[in-house]
Amino acid sequence: MAIPQSFLQELLARADVVEIVGRYVPLKKGGANYMGLCPFHGEKSPSFSVSPTKQFFHCFGCGKNGNAIGFLMEHAGMSFPEAVKDLAQQYGMQVPDDDTSPQDRARAAEQKQRQATLNEVLEKAGAAWRKHLKASPRAVEYLKGRGLSGEIARQFGLGYAPEGWRTLASVFPQYDDPLLAESGLVIVNEDEDKRYDRFRDRIMFPIRNVKGECIGFGGRVIGDGTPKYLNSPETPVFSKGRELYGLFEARNALREHGYVLVTEGYMDVVALAQLGFPNAVATLGTACTPDHVQKLFRFTDAVVFSFDGDEAGRRAARKALEVALPFATDVRSVKFLFLPAEHDPDSYIREFGREAFSRFVGEATPLSQFLVLAAREGCDLATAEGRAHLAANAKPLWTQLPEGALRRQLLGEIADLVQIDLRELEGLWTGKRPGAAPARGPRSGRDGPGGWRSGGEAPARRPRSGVRPPLEASASNIARMLLADARLWEVLSHAEHDLLCGLEGDFGELFRWLDHQAHEHGPQPLAALSVGMQGQPFEAAARRVIELDKLQPSGRVVEDPGFTTADLRTALLKLQLDVLDQELKRVQALPPTDPDRAIREEQLIRRQFALKKQQALEKAG
Ligand code: UTP
Ligand code: MN
Repeated sequence: MAIPQSFLQELLARADVVEIVGRYVPLKKGGANYMGLCPFHGEKSPSFSVSPTKQFFHCFGCGKNGNAIGFLMEHAGMSFPEAVKDLAQQYGMQVPDDDTSPQDRARAAEQKQRQATLNEVLEKAGAAWRKHLKASPRAVEYLKGRGLSGEIARQFGLGYAPEGWRTLASVFPQYDDPLLAESGLVIVNEDEDKRYDRFRDRIMFPIRNVKGECIGFGGRVIGDGTPKYLNSPETPVFSKGRELYGLFEARNALREHGYVLVTEGYMDVVALAQLGFPNAVATLGTACTPDHVQKLFRFTDAVVFSFDGDEAGRRAARKALEVALPFATDVRSVKFLFLPAEHDPDSYIREFGREAFSRFVGEATPLSQFLVLAAREGCDLATAEGRAHLAANAKPLWTQLPEGALRRQLLGEIADLVQIDLRELEGLWTGKRPGAAPARGPRSGRDGPGGWRSGGEAPARRPRSGVRPPLEASASNIARMLLADARLWEVLSHAEHDLLCGLEGDFGELFRWLDHQAHEHGPQPLAALSVGMQGQPFEAAARRVIELDKLQPSGRVVEDPGFTTADLRTALLKLQLDVLDQELKRVQALPPTDPDRAIREEQLIRRQFALKKQQALEKAG
């Protein structure tokens, strides 16, 4: 179900993040913001700040940040739709059923009911199998032989499905109930209309969703039969591509240990939990998916993937790398653990012990390093061809990374390996021309408030690589203030609105959009604007500006007074001067014989003089 962007924007404009956070975290006013002890990491002095103006929370210690919806997800463990619904209820809004008909809604309700029934059926089977385990010395012996304690078996709800084709009939007297087939417990042979238990003579591992409901099973043969593991089929409540074994059992340990260890097997999870790593989960015999990674990052900021030391393990690692890249923001950590050949975590920790395993995890390969390793595999860096090959391998990986410091650093690292200038590589990969900024400056054909008029010529070239033209810096500065506090838009005059809306490039687009937003909705907090700008052409530029405020040290934040009208006026004056300066340069580049030149130049200089005087006055008082 997709919740419309416009609804989210309105919800975030109406909700109060200070109130929402305040229910869980004691907050105290400090400057423009509220401060408190970060609920996401242990700390003694507050670096967690909540902005009523922007409607964002942000921890300057651990980097966690987000809006009211994000807070409910991160702190209260809600899913996105749950958090939206919860928040909407609190603020008297109705989440739109995005044009679902009454029939669709009825069907959805029915489906929900059906899922609850399936969970119940599975739970009942699991309970029966737990009883059977106690009664089966052979099954108990097997688990003991694998080093598992009774305590850990209880904790994970392990069971035993006895031999026989229809043992579940004693649990479910109505054995032909379609629910049994739908839940995957019973297999129906269509031809002969015969039914029988899917799991027979196997150790049973119940799989739970994050709410703790039983959604399926894995069953292992005792000894050496095939298949070694039999899993529940995909059902309305079970999807291998979304669920992780052990996540429910591990959820509290994830906070304590600070990371999740992703393994490949049921046994790995149970054995690790018994031996001091209760923070392990496993994929269910499938490759890691984006849904998996997203789910994990709801519970922790650090993921360590471990892979068995065989060829399949290596392939799985490559796949996990590709899946994890878009999630690797600067505040998260993704690492890869490559076990020695013939080992999985279970066998490793049993052979080498807990300490050794812990050390080994500590030395896991960071994502950045693995990316480079993966890209240079098979490339002879002594040759230009080999280096180019590396670049070709690295590009699709690097481009998956989200904006941030990690992405920048990796670009530098790859550029060094390829022996090419960083800016040039960036140009090649992002389509940005090295050394030249996209066109900025007054939009051609539009009259500025000061009577300047820009001609059709190409805008001034960017001075030199690395340095932003002053005009762009000024526009960015103003964007930052207006985004932080949209009420500032309303204190500006029409002429000032025109000046901003007349700018070229991303910021011009952004200001025109802000103007429209102000007309349509009035001032909105950044949290709402941030949702509204999704998919807009200026989005990336705006997000870079927003990020700037997240980089400030905590000392500055406590007294953060927010931006004032005076700050904005100062910045506007500077922008006007930059615009004039650019215009002047353009006019001065005209041939001296041009009849316009002298007149325009004089006009501009006069105006420049007036603005500088105003600037000096403002600085003085
Ligand atoms: P492994 O073959 O590595 O088994 O399969 P394991 O986890 O080490 O199990 P033990 O230690 O021999 O008991 C890893 C995972 O792949 C899936 C299961 O999810 C298993 O945990 N798998 C494996 C299957 O689904 N079916 C199989 O037949 C084998
Ligand atoms: Mn194993």
